[in-house]
Amino acid sequence: MTIAFFDSGIGGITVLSEAVEQLPHENFLYFADTLHVPYGTKSKDQVMEYVLEAAARITREEVQALVIACNTATSIAAAELRKAYSIPIIGMEPAVKPAVEMNRHSGKRVLVFATPLTLSQSKYNELVARVDDHGSVDSLPLPELVGYCENLNFDRAQMVDYFGAKLAPFDLNAYGTVVLGCTHYPFYKKILRELLPGHIQIIDGSRGTVSRLRSVLGVTKVPGSKARGRIQFMCSSDDPAYMVKMEKAFDIFSRLES
Ligand code: DGL
Repeated sequence: MTIAFFDSGIGGITVLSEAVEQLPHENFLYFADTLHVPYGTKSKDQVMEYVLEAAARITREEVQALVIACNTATSIAAAELRKAYSIPIIGMEPAVKPAVEMNRHSGKRVLVFATPLTLSQSKYNELVARVDDHGSVDSLPLPELVGYCENLNFDRAQMVDYFGAKLAPFDLNAYGTVVLGCTHYPFYKKILRELLPGHIQIIDGSRGTVSRLRSVLGVTKVPGSKARGRIQFMCSSDDPAYMVKMEKAFDIFSRLES
């Protein structure tokens, strides 16, 4: 079986990495839409077109499921993809619901980081309206972070300045959880862990998404197995340098997580 993962760029590698951990025997095809990254600052219509194009290319390969490892693409095009393809399509959305639950008794607030496009969509706003019964969720778009990540820019001093400026308007003591609602952002989890007060939990949707993938496919986890499936990287620009970048990003993220 081959499971396809799709993102605008290298962000979905943070989800792929979790999948490799949970499903070590499976083969993976990772596709980055390098011709159109970033998605989060583009229009809804543009992103819809890009995602449908990418999905058409991915499904020319023998794949048994497609994980949209991108919150932005999911919010724009998941419903359309499910209509167009018969294979399971697994999407992602910012983990607002678990974050609200985690803070229900502490009275602390939730801060959601995501792309401007994700945060402007009715899908996100309806999700917040549905689960946030105390009005405790705030949102912060971090579009520049996708660019930094695509350049493999993890310069600590620059990130300290960047997050410092972005977070300056917030009283962080009032928050209990930060939600990473864009799959590029977990590359900065370690730096954020250092910068945010210790009581703030940082969560993302990778584990939940891969658990859903497993249950949809009916595949069980094989603990401690050494066997490895294959990971194949592809990108819309067929740029060999980007293939190397994806492998490098996979290694960087695996090291961050270990
Ligand atoms: N990684 C994507 C997400 O989860 C989008 C990043 C972008 O292309 O702007 O939202």
